[in-house]
Amino acid sequence: MSEHNPKHVYIHTIGCQMNVYDSGQLMAILKAEGFCETRDIGEADLIIVNTCAIREKAVQKMASFIGRFSGLKQKKPGARIVVAGCVAQQQGRRLLERFPHVDVVVGTHAFRRLPLLLEEREARGESLVDISMTENIEKTDSEILLKHHQTDVSEFVTIMRGCDNFCTYCVVPYVRGPEISRSPADILSEIADLVESGMKEVTLLGQNVNSYGMKEGLCTFAELLERVHAIDGLERIRFVTSHPKDLSPELIEAFVSLEKLCPHIHLPVQSGSDRILKKMNRRYTVAAYLDKVYRLRQAVPEIALTTDIIAGFPGETEQDFNQTLELIQEVEYESLFAFEYSDRPDAPARRFKNKVDAVEKNRRLRKLFALQASITQKKQRAMVGRTLDVLVEGVSKMQKKQGRAVNNGSTELCGRTGGNRIVNFSFGTDCDLDIRALKGQIIRVRIEKAFSNSLWGVPVNMASPSRQIKGGYVHVA
Ligand code: SAH
Ligand code: SF4
Ligand code: F3S
Repeated sequence: MSEHNPKHVYIHTIGCQMNVYDSGQLMAILKAEGFCETRDIGEADLIIVNTCAIREKAVQKMASFIGRFSGLKQKKPGARIVVAGCVAQQQGRRLLERFPHVDVVVGTHAFRRLPLLLEEREARGESLVDISMTENIEKTDSEILLKHHQTDVSEFVTIMRGCDNFCTYCVVPYVRGPEISRSPADILSEIADLVESGMKEVTLLGQNVNSYGMKEGLCTFAELLERVHAIDGLERIRFVTSHPKDLSPELIEAFVSLEKLCPHIHLPVQSGSDRILKKMNRRYTVAAYLDKVYRLRQAVPEIALTTDIIAGFPGETEQDFNQTLELIQEVEYESLFAFEYSDRPDAPARRFKNKVDAVEKNRRLRKLFALQASITQKKQRAMVGRTLDVLVEGVSKMQKKQGRAVNNGSTELCGRTGGNRIVNFSFGTDCDLDIRALKGQIIRVRIEKAFSNSLWGVPVNMASPSRQIKGGYVHVA
């Protein structure tokens, strides 16, 4: 490809952090091939949508996105459209039948071959599909990836792919394949490289990080955490997701012994009814789950807990649902993600009897949100008056939207606490601080206001921060 006339690529990502990570890899691979990233879709020669199949709504999002480009080639004959990710894996050639203007369909294991597939598309003059699941996941040229990766303060790093758990509602094992863990050496070198280029916080990704390395006989997840913890310059470690059945005492212990490990755990419970948990094939009981919550809180009293709940799983009665509400009341999560149950083509629950109707599913969902909103409000309010360590990520959302209008012209920044709460904070209008210098630092912020999704506060000991930073007031934990 000519250096003077680079092709612009736009990637639209739907779905979980795993897809965000894959989109980053895909972008790096394409940049290495001479493509140039654009954030303006109108400028793009190559439009890629990285898709999610977890619920019907995510599939609909993909369909309406692709539908927008049905007339694109009349205006721009050279433009190419690619569907990648979980729906690509699931539907393969059927996507081409439904969307004839799509050029390449590439699955979850084959996406690293996209540059070759694009060439093949041109040579053949027709659309093509690659959903083979034979790609070796270790085959990433980290030098290329790093050179073209946009390092931020916080990054995702996938430590394992696929899933062997087969929860009866879930499509992931079918679209992502069996669980495979990356080698510790590979993971550590990727993180060390990212830290060297300025990254401070890493979130280790897997569908069930607690079973990391078990199948391959690598180290345990707790051991991997210890080795990641030893990387100099890394400030914070997070991970998602933990399957409650595999949460080990060693992992609970790691929260105590590893100070970089953030006091937050996402522990999806899905339901508060043993009967429903059994039908979901989750392989734990409510009592066993609560026992783990108790042990986590005993080890780290301040630990932030978040969860996922499915509302209206087939056969869920009012009584089952009330047990879920009771569980939420008992645990008091910091926040929760709740979803209406959605039938998936590959998942066995699709054939289960006694489906809950759409109106009732929605009523239950709203009830879950209302209960959680009151718990969140109580927990957020309890933060007012406290001084928290905040990793500065950059300019706040509000500031980006409204420019200097926020807070009478002062600059509002945002960051996160170890418990993953969003904190916005600002400096005085006379502040001559270079905000870029603060990005990636951990500062102390006194919380003054609480909102449902964020906190607002004032940096401590930083009235004229530009001078005080030099004086060493910035607290790097
Ligand atoms: N591996 C993670 C979950 C990944 S999917 C785990 O086991 O916890 C993220 C969430 O989507 C799940 O926790 C579940 O709450 C929800 N989900 C998955 N399949 C679903 C379906 N068919 N309908 C509704 N929600 C679903
Ligand atoms: Fe899906 Fe269950 Fe695997 Fe999570 S553990 S990805 S919910 S099958
Ligand atoms: Fe969706 Fe695939 Fe993630 S189905 S939730 S993008 S693994």
